[in-house]
Formats: sequence, structure tokens, C-alpha cells
Amino acid sequence: MRPAFVFGTRPEIIKLSPVIRAFIKRGVEPLLIHTGQHYDYEMSAVFLEELELPEIDYHLEVGSGTQAEQTGLAMMKIEKVLMDEKPDVTLVQGDTNTVLAGALASVKLKIPVAHVEAGLRSFDRTMPEEINRVLADHASEVLFPPTEEARRNLEREGITENVYVTGNTIVDAVLQNAEMAEKKSDVLERFSLKPGEYILITAHRAENTDSRENLEKLIEILESLPMRAIYPMHPRTKNRLKEFGLLGKVEGIENLIVTKPLGYLDFLKLERNAFAIMTDSGGIQEEAIILNVPCLTLRYNTERPETVEAGGNVLVGLEKERALNYINKLLNDAEFYRKMASAPNPFGDGKAGERIAEILLKLHERGELKVRS
Ligand code: UD1
Ligand code: UDP
Repeated sequence: MRPAFVFGTRPEIIKLSPVIRAFIKRGVEPLLIHTGQHYDYEMSAVFLEELELPEIDYHLEVGSGTQAEQTGLAMMKIEKVLMDEKPDVTLVQGDTNTVLAGALASVKLKIPVAHVEAGLRSFDRTMPEEINRVLADHASEVLFPPTEEARRNLEREGITENVYVTGNTIVDAVLQNAEMAEKKSDVLERFSLKPGEYILITAHRAENTDSRENLEKLIEILESLPMRAIYPMHPRTKNRLKEFGLLGKVEGIENLIVTKPLGYLDFLKLERNAFAIMTDSGGIQEEAIILNVPCLTLRYNTERPETVEAGGNVLVGLEKERALNYINKLLNDAEFYRKMASAPNPFGDGKAGERIAEILLKLHERGELKVRS
């Protein structure tokens, strides 16, 4: 059995690492294909190193571009590798352009696709990620929704065969790395931060960063925070702020540390020790609840509603008043803080990677890992 993994961005490397490990543990050598959607050292290579992944077999160097340029070029390059290598299955994870490209290129070569983190829906079709998720799910043969809620989304769209609820591999990644992060990372000392006394911020999503108006709303929130904050800034946001002439304004905010993106161990340590997290990231909404840190999401919807239902996450959008109300409530109401910080993790037990490898190996053994006619 030879599984191919197609990935290209920071979260895909992190969330696929437990699955790659699980195959290797079972004596299976995976084929690793990196599209190069993310290419800066701190957006890609740092994770390959820290997570001790094997050598990448193919670096496709697709890079940045418009939606169609990036997806199209990735499809062409992935297709060539899959035609040469003929893997038994192609694994993709999540909702990026790399995922859509990998899924389409593979299924059209009649190589079955397995979608890790299937079934997530924001129901907002203006997000590129939502289109990628829906199409990748419908191109996939085997689907691994992380939760029952995600499984039900698939069912509503008529996808009921070869669907396995596994938990989210982010739990595996956090459990596999959190302790090492506590021991090895000196991130708090480097930035002179004290546990529980700072807010961790990230924002990179297209809907928040592509318009000046929304960037200005984000800046208003950052300017009004009542405690120290640190913002490891995604290159997309940095580039947009530069284009709009707003980077200096953000960098000049007192009490806000703006830094380049951080490696996984540093970032996990920052998350775990934060007073609260404000983010528009999908993976960070998940990690916050796993690590028992209150999360305020800088979006108006989420494809991770389980976090909100569990009580660990609140959608505040880009509304300064709403965001500040919640931060102040967390600061002044100990019971409210305790409740948010103790919301139960809805994403499983940290064995998702093992389950995914087991299921795919079994399907392969039974000759059932193929594109249905
Ligand atoms: C992509 C995903 C998003 C995911 C995010 C993870 C899509 C449509 N979006 O968004 O779902 O949450 O990755 O971080 O696939 N850039 C660099 N260096 C890099 C990578 C990007 O400077 O290594 C800059 C470029 O200016 C580029 C911009 O960031 O144009 C956006 O990169 P892109 O890969 O298109 O989308 P992300 O915003 O990273
Ligand atoms: N992350 C990191 N360093 C950072 C910011 C994020 O290691 O500076 C990790 C974070 O712990 C999470 C993942 O990157 O596992 C989230 O990636 P991102 O927010 O880019 O993408 P999304 O999850 O929104 O698709």
C-alpha cells in the first residue's frame, strides 16, 4: 500500500503529521507531495523540521497567485506526479486550494481521494475555503469528518458511504507537541511575556484582510485592548497592510508586539499560556478549546460550531464593542472565565491519525480502496 499525501500550507503540514506518523509506524512508506502554496521558511520548512517529517518526495513550487492560477498550476503539477507514481490513495486535509487541486487531479486519474477533516461547513459560499471543502468532499471516496456534526453535513449532501468519524488530527498534533513546547520553547522569555497576562492574536483570512475597511476595523480592536497582546502576523496580512499603508499604524500600537509567524512549539506555548486568544484561524479555534484557553473569533460565522456550542468560543466578528465587552467580561468575571476555559474539547481523543491509517489499510486489504463506478 502506498498512500500519497498532498499538502502545501502550514495547517496541512501540522494536521497531516499525525497521519503520516501513523502510517510510518505501521511500516508503510508515504509519498509526500508539497505543492509550495506556502514557501517562506516560517510558513512551511520550520514545521517539516519541528514535526520531524521525512524528506518531501516532490516540491512542486506552485507559490502564490490568483485562486485559479494557484489551483490550476497545482493541479497540473500534482497530476504529473500521480501519473508517474500511481499511489493507491491520495490524502488531502482541510480546505485550501492545494486540497481542491489534489482532490480533482487524483480522482480524475481514478486514484481514490481520502479527505481528512471532511464535512466542515461555514455555509458562506463567498469564502474560497467553503468552495474547496464542498468540492473536495464530493470528489472523495473516503471521508474522515472530525465530529458527528461534520458527518451530518455530509449526510445532508447525500454523502453516506465510506464516512468515518475519527476526531480531528489537531488533537493528536497538540498532544504530541504541547509538552515538548513547554520544555523547549523560550518564547515567553524572548518577548518578555508572563503566563496569563497577554492576549494572543492572529488574523489572516481573506475576508478580514482584503479590504481596507475591514483592516481598519481590526486595527481599532487592536488599539483598544486593555492588556498586552502579541500578534504573529501571517505574510498575507503583512502584505495587505503594507499595500494599504497601514503597517506602520499596527506596528506603532503600544502594548502590541507584532512579530513574524512562529514555529509550532513557540506558538503552542504562546497559546497555552495566553489569557485569551483572538483569531480568525480555523486551527487556532480548535487548539484554544483543546488547551482550555478562551477564544474570541474575529469572524461572523464558523465551520467549527462545536467550539461555540461547547462554550469555549464566541464569534465577535470585527465589532470592537462586542470584542471588548467579552475581553472585559473575561477580565472581571472569574466564573465566566472559568466556564469558557473549561469548555469540553469536542474534537476527540488524539487518536485520529491512528484511526485514519487503520481504516485506509483495511479498505486497501479488502480491495475496497477504489473510485466507484
Ligand atoms: C491559505 C488558505 C487558507 C488557510 C491559510 C493557512 C486558500 C484559499 N487559503 O490562505 O484557507 O487558512 O492558507 O495559513 O487556500 N504569502 C507569503 N509567503 C508564503 C505564503 C503566502 O508571503 O509562504 C503571501 C503572498 O502574498 C500570498 C498571500 O500570502 O499571495 C496569500 O497566500 P495564499 O496561499 O494564497 O493564501 P493564505 O492567505 O495563506
Ligand atoms: N500556527 C503556528 N505559528 C503561527 C500561527 C499559527 O504554528 O505563527 C499554527 C497553529 O498552531 C495552528 C495552525 O498554525 O495549528 C493554524 O494555521 P492557520 O491559522 O494559518 O490556518 P487555518 O487553520 O486558519 O487554516
